[in-house]
Amino acid sequence: MSYETILVETRGKVGLVTLNRPKALNALNAQVLADLLAAFRAFDADPAIAASVLTGSEKAFAAGADIKEMQSRDYVDMYVADAFAGWDDFARIRKPIIAAVAGYALGGGCELAMMCDFIIAGDNAKFGQPEITLGVMPGMGGSQRLTRFVGKSKAMDMVLTGRMMDAAEAERCGLVSRVVPADDLMAEALTAASRIAEFSLPAVMMAKEAVDRAYETTLSEGLRFERRLFHSMFALEDQKEGMAAFVEKRPARFLDR
Ligand code: CAA
Repeated sequence: MSYETILVETRGKVGLVTLNRPKALNALNAQVLADLLAAFRAFDADPAIAASVLTGSEKAFAAGADIKEMQSRDYVDMYVADAFAGWDDFARIRKPIIAAVAGYALGGGCELAMMCDFIIAGDNAKFGQPEITLGVMPGMGGSQRLTRFVGKSKAMDMVLTGRMMDAAEAERCGLVSRVVPADDLMAEALTAASRIAEFSLPAVMMAKEAVDRAYETTLSEGLRFERRLFHSMFALEDQKEGMAAFVEKRPARFLDR
């Protein structure tokens, strides 16, 4: 299947999606959302794919929602269309997605990276929520997700001043999981995704679901949710295999069941 705004490849059990609107610095319009949902839903449905990487170009992961697409809209247009609600579907993709961010991840670009499961940044990455400079505020989750990632003080700083943070600051404050030289970014992200793909797919998906739950519920409910999933894993053949392999001092051969 070919897409208008993204490139899709597979590398073994890893899916690789590259945002591909270079003239607009990968600005996110309705077509990008439709293409991303189609591609990642296809990965979710494909038993041969276990994890994926989402990336942009060397200059821009994505420079935000498409300002030119939004510019002439009025309140009723935005409200009736429930603009940006479709991105909630992206956050519901069930297999892990690593964001590999080089260059600008601004506005919706930063918000899209935060919708992925973790972010690996090139040392040239720049993150920001500059919507305030356009007379608006973040609309794809930035006020909520950035605050959960980096805490109130830094989120307020980013959202109210519109300033960018570099990769080192983003790592320091927990927005990204690792920073690597920009030239190594894709290799590092694909290696991380391949590592995830070696493990039991149902165990990986449940682990992702459990960590995501921490954002949605209280500690006691989250702990209960974790325990229920943990108990359910003892119905997996892969639990028997993983633990037997440890005891027998051999590599595990997971069957994804
Ligand atoms: N939407 C639409 N087009 C965009 C864009 C965006 N978010 N960001 C960049 N572009 C376009 C530019 O208009 C330009 O196109 P033309 O050549 O046709 O003029 C092209 O991409 C290249 O951009 P620049 O010439 O500006 O490149 P630069 O290197 O000088 O600057 C930049 C790079 C600092 C990222 C600058 O492009 C910029 O500030 N972009 C906008 C960033 C922004 O405000 N993002 C937030 C968008 S709103 C949002 O995301 C809302 C939300 O939360 C959902």
